[in-house]
Amino acid sequence: MSQLEKVKELIELRAKARLGGGEKRIAAQHEKGKYTARERISILLDEGSFEEFDMFVEHRCTNFGMEKTKFLGDGVVIGCGTIEGRLVYVFAQDFTVIGGSLSETLAMKICKVMDMAMKVGAPVIGINDSGGARIQEGVNALAGYAEIFQRNILASGVIPQISGIFGPCAGGAVYSPALTDFTLMTEGTSYMFLTGPKVVKTVTGEDVTQEELGGASVHTTKSGVAHFSVANEDDGLSIIRQLFGFLPSNNREEAPRRENTDPIARMDDLLNEIIPDNPNKAYDMYEVIGSVIDNGEFLEVHTNYAKNIIVGFARFNGQSVGIVANQPKYMAGVLDINASRKAARFVRFCDAFNIPLVTLVDVPGFLPGTGQEYGGVITHGAKLLYAYGEATVPKVTVTLRKSYGGSHIVMSCKQLRGDINYAWPTAEIAVMGADGAVEVLYTKELKAAETPEKKAEVAAAKKDEYNKLFCNPYNAARYGYIDDVIEPRNTRFRVIRALEQLRTKHQVNPAKKHDNLPL
Ligand code: HXC
Repeated sequence: MSQLEKVKELIELRAKARLGGGEKRIAAQHEKGKYTARERISILLDEGSFEEFDMFVEHRCTNFGMEKTKFLGDGVVIGCGTIEGRLVYVFAQDFTVIGGSLSETLAMKICKVMDMAMKVGAPVIGINDSGGARIQEGVNALAGYAEIFQRNILASGVIPQISGIFGPCAGGAVYSPALTDFTLMTEGTSYMFLTGPKVVKTVTGEDVTQEELGGASVHTTKSGVAHFSVANEDDGLSIIRQLFGFLPSNNREEAPRRENTDPIARMDDLLNEIIPDNPNKAYDMYEVIGSVIDNGEFLEVHTNYAKNIIVGFARFNGQSVGIVANQPKYMAGVLDINASRKAARFVRFCDAFNIPLVTLVDVPGFLPGTGQEYGGVITHGAKLLYAYGEATVPKVTVTLRKSYGGSHIVMSCKQLRGDINYAWPTAEIAVMGADGAVEVLYTKELKAAETPEKKAEVAAAKKDEYNKLFCNPYNAARYGYIDDVIEPRNTRFRVIRALEQLRTKHQVNPAKKHDNLPL
C-alpha cells in the first residue's frame, strides 16, 4: 500500500467510526427526538475544538457471538475540546452502538478521559444514553462501572464533573451521575432508576411508567437526584455551557471572573420598599437576587426542588459566586429536610471549588412536626450547618428580615465564620418570633386575663415590647454579630465591596483524613 493509499484508508476508517451504529440506527435516534453522541459533543463544545480519542477501540467480547458485532469506537465517543476557550474532557455514550451498553472497553475509554482530566486539572462532562451494563460481557461490564465510579469519587472536589442524562440511565449506571456534581435531564426522553417498571411490578406490585418512576420531572421535583430539567437537548447543552462558565477548572483555580458591564454602584430603590409591613406577608426573593447581581443573570440549580430555598450561580462585578437564599414566597422560607440537603450540597460544592458564597436570609425557623422529626431533620439540618461551618471560601451574608433561632445560626451567621454579615433595617434577629416568645414567656399573664379581649390586649402589648427589644438588627449589631446595617437599595455595592475585600482570604481547616459530615 502506498502512503497515499494508507492515508485514504485512515480517512475511510474515520468516516466509518463517525457513523457509529450506522445510518439506520442514527435515523432511529433522530426519530426519538435525540441527537447522536457526536452531534451532542459538537453542539456542546466550541466549534472545531473537539479532539477525539480511541476512535478505533473495539470490544473484545466473544460470548454469544459478539465477535461478529463490532463497531469502531464501541459505544462511546470520548475526547477533549473547549467551552469558551477553556479545556474540558467529554464522553458521550452512543446509543446507536449496541444501545450504548457498557462493555469493558467502553468503560476503559471513559476512564481514559477521566484520568486525563485529573492529570491536567480540567472538568469532565459526561452525556449518558445507555442500556446499562452490556449483558453479554457479564462481570467485566460490572468491573467497568466500578472503575468509573472509583474515578468519580477520586475526582470529586478536584475537578468539576457534570452529567447530562439524554436517554436511558438505569441500574447501577445511575451511580456515576449521582457521584458527579450536577445532573441534567431531558424531559420525556431520559430516565434514571435503579430498577425498571417491570421489576417494580414484580417486587412491589406497583404499576408505574418509566416517566413516573424516573423521568426528569420526578428527579427535579420529588427526589432531587437531578439538578436541571430541560425541554430538549439543545437547551440542555446550552445550560451545561452556562454552568461551566461559572466554575473554575479545578480546585486549585480561583472561580472565574468576567468583564462586567453592570455598574457596581447601581442602586435599586425598590429594595427599600420590598419588605411588607406585615411580617406574615411574603415577597419574592427572586426579585432581590435579580436586582443585586450582574445583569440579572442567575443560573438557578434545583429550581423545582425544595423551593423554600433558592441556590444558584451569579456574578458580582464579574466574580462568579454561589447564592443561597431563603424564599419567603414558598412555605414562608422555612428550612426543612429537603431544603437543608439541597443547600448543604450546593454550599459544599462552592467551597470545594473556591466559589464565594453570598447568603440572603429570611428564615422563620425549621419546619416543626413528626414528619420532619421522623425523617431526621436534625441530621439533615446539621448538614447545612456543617457545610457553612467548614466552608473557607469568602462568605457574605445579608439578613433581609427574619432570622430566628437555630435557622439563624445555620444560615451563615457570624460564629460559623461568616466573613461579612450585613443586615437590612428590617432584619429581625432573635431566638424566635414575637408570637411564640410571648406564649412561652407570659403563659401566666395570658391565662390570668379574664376575657379573650383582655388576653389579646396583654398579648399585643407584650409582643410590642418583645419586637422593640429583639425584632430588629441593632441588638445583634450591638454585639458585633452584624457588621453593619445597610440601606437595602445599596446591597449590590456593599456585597461587591465585601467580596473585593475578601479576595485574598485564606483560611485552612485542621488537618484530617476526611470529615464526618452527618450523612
Ligand atoms: C446489551 C443492549 C443492552 C444491554 C440495549 N441493548 N441494552 N445490549 N446489553 N444492556 C441493545 C439492544 O439489544 C438493541 O440491539 C440495541 O441495544 C437498542 O436497544 P433497543 O431495546 O432496541 O432500544 P429501545 O427500544 O429504545 O430500548 C432501550 C432500553 C432497552 C429500554 C434501554 O434496550 C433495555 O431495556 N435494555 C436493557 C436495560 C437493562 O436491563 N440493562 C441492564 C441494567 S443492570 P439491536 O441489535 O437489536 O439494535 C446494569 C447493572 C449495572 O446496568 C451495575 C453497575 C454497578
